[in-house]
Amino acid sequence: MARGKKIYEGKAKVLYEGPEPGTIVQYFKDDATAFNAEKKDVIDGKGVLNNRLSEFFMLGLGQIGVPTHFLKRLNMREQLVRSCEIIPLEVIVRNFAAGSMAKRLGLEEGTQLSRPVVEYSYKDDALGDPLVPEEYIAAFGWASPQDMEDILSIALRVNDFLSGVMYGVGIKLIDFKIEIGRVYDGDFQRLVVADEISPDSCRLWDIETGRKLDKDVFRRDLGNLTDAYSEVARRLGVLPKNA
Ligand code: C5P
Repeated sequence: MARGKKIYEGKAKVLYEGPEPGTIVQYFKDDATAFNAEKKDVIDGKGVLNNRLSEFFMLGLGQIGVPTHFLKRLNMREQLVRSCEIIPLEVIVRNFAAGSMAKRLGLEEGTQLSRPVVEYSYKDDALGDPLVPEEYIAAFGWASPQDMEDILSIALRVNDFLSGVMYGVGIKLIDFKIEIGRVYDGDFQRLVVADEISPDSCRLWDIETGRKLDKDVFRRDLGNLTDAYSEVARRLGVLPKNA
């Protein structure tokens, strides 16, 4: 399928105009970045794995009634998605303390939280995606109170879905990030899960061993990133067991 003009190039993906109005071709690169792109590398095969894994999660969400931007996978590195207006927030859900939360509060990584915690960062690379309270979101008009109610409900549904799917293959979902987009059907606005869901945007720990199977392997130099992502893909049946 012919893709059109390049619209945007991010750290891990490139977006091109799609074949029909209102569609976009999302291309997954092999580039890995961390700490707001201070650490960079090219990891052979990462884009292919994330394309397949994101397809798997988005299709599953669609099947349980959570709307997403996903339309279909086109090839090894590209998927067709609905064009949407991205709300400039990173929606982060945490089940166990890790990463920036563990650091901020001086908690041991892996400490179980008494309830899922949903937090929001303002999407701005130059500012390092700062954590923002809901008051800021309302004051700056990034999302309406109704949007925030809908975003919370989507985030918790995605959390329940991903936690369950991962638990089924012996993986603990520590935390994850999603992005939300607006699509318009005439005048009617709907919110959809957009961007990607992959081990780049989740923390995934093996339940038995605690082995990290996510981007922390790259961030913290813990080994081979594609081995970790392939393990997730094999367990989920996205890759054949012997791949
Ligand atoms: O770094 P922090 O602990 O806040 O990250 C929480 C979760 O959100 C992690 O799963 C991380 O991979 C994800 N995240 C992301 N993109 C960002 C920031 C965080 O995917 N820009």
